[in-house]
Amino acid sequence: MVSSEYNSPQTIIDNLHSAVIVIGENLQVVCMNPAAEMLFHISNARAVTKNIRELVINEHEFFDRLERSIISSHPYTVYDGQLRLHHHKVVDVDYSVSPIQFQDKGMFLLLEFIRLKTQHKLSQENSILSQYEASKSLLRGLAHEIKNPLGGIRGAAQLLEREIKDEGSDSTQLTQIIINEADRLKNLLDRMVGPKDIPTKNDVNIHKILEHVRQLVLAENNHLTIAADYDPSLPDLHADESMMIQVILNITRNAVTALDLSDKKTADRKKITFRTRAQRNCKIGSHTYPLVARVDIKDNGSGVSKEIQEKIFMPMITGHAEGTGLGLSIAQSLVQQHNGLIEFTSKPGETIFTLLLPLNTH
Ligand SMILES: Nc1ncnc2c1ncn2[C@@H]1O[C@H](COP(=O)(O)OP(=O)(O)OP(=O)(O)O)[C@@H](O)[C@H]1O
Ligand SMILES: [Mg+2]
Repeated sequence: MVSSEYNSPQTIIDNLHSAVIVIGENLQVVCMNPAAEMLFHISNARAVTKNIRELVINEHEFFDRLERSIISSHPYTVYDGQLRLHHHKVVDVDYSVSPIQFQDKGMFLLLEFIRLKTQHKLSQENSILSQYEASKSLLRGLAHEIKNPLGGIRGAAQLLEREIKDEGSDSTQLTQIIINEADRLKNLLDRMVGPKDIPTKNDVNIHKILEHVRQLVLAENNHLTIAADYDPSLPDLHADESMMIQVILNITRNAVTALDLSDKKTADRKKITFRTRAQRNCKIGSHTYPLVARVDIKDNGSGVSKEIQEKIFMPMITGHAEGTGLGLSIAQSLVQQHNGLIEFTSKPGETIFTLLLPLNTH
């Protein structure tokens, strides 16, 4: 808060996790705390000149209630509300409105918004983590069991090949097929189990990685737009650069597939956006990190089909005939090696894959 009239509780209000906005009778913003600046993506200095109608859009019920609250001087609270904000993001919030009468200055409304990393969202995250762990250990066991006989089959085929050659026969083609197929299965198993390399972490700039992937994917696809909306103040990550490139690439390639650029009529409206932001006090699994880099990869494609939404990070889950269903499971595994998490929200026309990567974790 900057306005000196409201200075006394400043430190407390500035450190609240909930977003607080004070508006006047004319619905003009008087001040907001840093949590509100983050929620509404606007600085206090820019917000004070605006009417709350410019920050929350097309929410008639919300405005009606504000006006009624001013007239009646009654507070009210809404649980599990949804508001569309001026940056077009729909947020799930609990919010309360408290009228405050200042003797000499008239009526003000104190709006308090509590962002719902809803129970639903939390349990979704936990389910991503636990589902992932379960499928991973199952796969490890299975891969081990399959690789043993596979090694035997390959070895036997090699011996057979040698014998056939000694006998002067020309049918080594068949043994080659056995050897190649055994190798192919082994590679598949290795990919399913996930990367076993230990990350080599260095200070890396996330924007450099994003730009690298952006250029790469643009070079692969003629009619594609990838917009960049970066927060340049984001500190460096301590991460394995090539692993991070792999993660962003896997997610972006999925977005490209979902955009279906082969449909020439709609191709020029199709778009991917890379967006970075810092996020404070972010819970990942059971740990709360003071500062996390948030990378959103958004596309306006078809959306993730309902049937696979719950299990999208599991290996072999794919929505395409030609997909192996490994891209996201590998990406999740790589991000977890950095104590991070990939989550997503999706509806037709807007899918956002979000990478949360803790910062300052040397
Ligand atoms: N941005 C997106 N929009 C719509 N669906 C998506 C998106 N990203 C992923 N999906 C769905 O999730 C599935 C799993 O993705 P994943 O990357 O794990 O496997 P894949 O792309 O099918 O195969 P590959 O192993 O080649 O990456 C996809 O097949 C697709 O159906
Ligand atoms: Mg993929």
